[in-house]
Amino acid sequence: MNKSPSPRHFLTISDLASDEILFLINRALKLKKRYKSDLPYRPCIGKVLGLLFEKPSTRTRVSFEAAMLQLGGNVTFLSSRDLQLSRGEPLKDTARVLSRYLNCLVVRTFGQEVVDELARWSDVPVINGLTDQYHPCQVLSDIMTVMEHKDEDIRALKIAWVGDGNNVAHSWIQGASRLGFVLALACPEGYEPNKEILNTAQAKSAAPITLMTDPKEAVKGADVINADVWASMGQEQEASKRREIFAPFQINEALLAKAKKDAIVLHCLPAHRGEEISEEVLEGPHSLVWDQAENKMHLHKAVLEWAMEL
Ligand code: CP
Ligand code: NVA
Repeated sequence: MNKSPSPRHFLTISDLASDEILFLINRALKLKKRYKSDLPYRPCIGKVLGLLFEKPSTRTRVSFEAAMLQLGGNVTFLSSRDLQLSRGEPLKDTARVLSRYLNCLVVRTFGQEVVDELARWSDVPVINGLTDQYHPCQVLSDIMTVMEHKDEDIRALKIAWVGDGNNVAHSWIQGASRLGFVLALACPEGYEPNKEILNTAQAKSAAPITLMTDPKEAVKGADVINADVWASMGQEQEASKRREIFAPFQINEALLAKAKKDAIVLHCLPAHRGEEISEEVLEGPHSLVWDQAENKMHLHKAVLEWAMEL
C-alpha cells in the first residue's frame, strides 16, 4: 500500500492555511455540482476509510460513509467499545495497526489529545470528526453553506454565535481567524470559549472576533446566526442546569428580528426545539439546516481527496 511519509492529518482548522480552506470549500462546491449531475467520480476504488467513534453520530458518520462509498471506496465503522482499545490497548499501538489496513481514519472522541496521539502514530491521515474541543469538518461545511448562499465575500459578513462556547464555537473562532470575517459570540458567563483558543485566534485575525454576554448585540446586523445544543455530548448531567442558564440565548423570531433581513440561520444539528432554537426559526425561511447537513457529505469528499492526496 502506498503511504505518504508525512500524512495530511486534519485535527483543527488551524492546521490549514486560508488558501487550503478556500480550496477545500471550492472543491466541495464542485463535487456537489458533479454529484447533482449524476457524473460518477471514483478516485477511491480499492481504498478503505475507517471511522473510529466513541460518541454517537448521525450526520458525521453517514456523510463520511456515503462520501467514501460514492468516491468508489469502502468503509469500516469501528465502535471503540468493540476494539481492544476498550480493554486497554494503547492508542499508539491501535494507530500503527490500523495504518496497516486503512488509507484514512476519521475519529470522534472526547479529548483532543486522543486524536493528537492517534495522528502522531498513524501512517495514514487522521481526520477529527469531533472532539470536546473542536469540530473542524463541521465548520468547514458550515462556511461552505454560507459561501454557497451569500453573494458577498465572506470577509464582508458578520457571523454570530449564540450559546455555549463549545467545540463548534472553537472551530468557528479558528475559521474566522484564518479567513478574516467578523465573528460575534454571545455566551453566558462561565460558558465562554477557551481563553487560549480565543486569544490566539484574536491575535492573528484580520477582523474582530468579539465575545459578549448579550445575544441581541451579537445578532445585531448579522448575516449568519449559528446555534448549537446547550449541553454537548458528555455533558448530559448538566443539561437541566444549562437549560435555565441558557434560556435567554434561544434563537427565536424576536432575536432573529435583530439580524439583517436576509440573515441565514445555521444549526449543526441535532436540534432541541424549544431550547437553543424555536420550532418556527428552525423550520422557517431563514433556516438552512438541511442544506447545511447535506453539505457535510460534499465537504467530506473534498477533505478525503485532500487527505489521501488523490
Ligand atoms: N453535526 C453533527 O456532527 O452531527 P452528528 O453528531 O449527527 O454527527
Ligand atoms: N456541540 C455538540 C455538537 C454536536 C454535533 C456536541 O459536541 O455534542
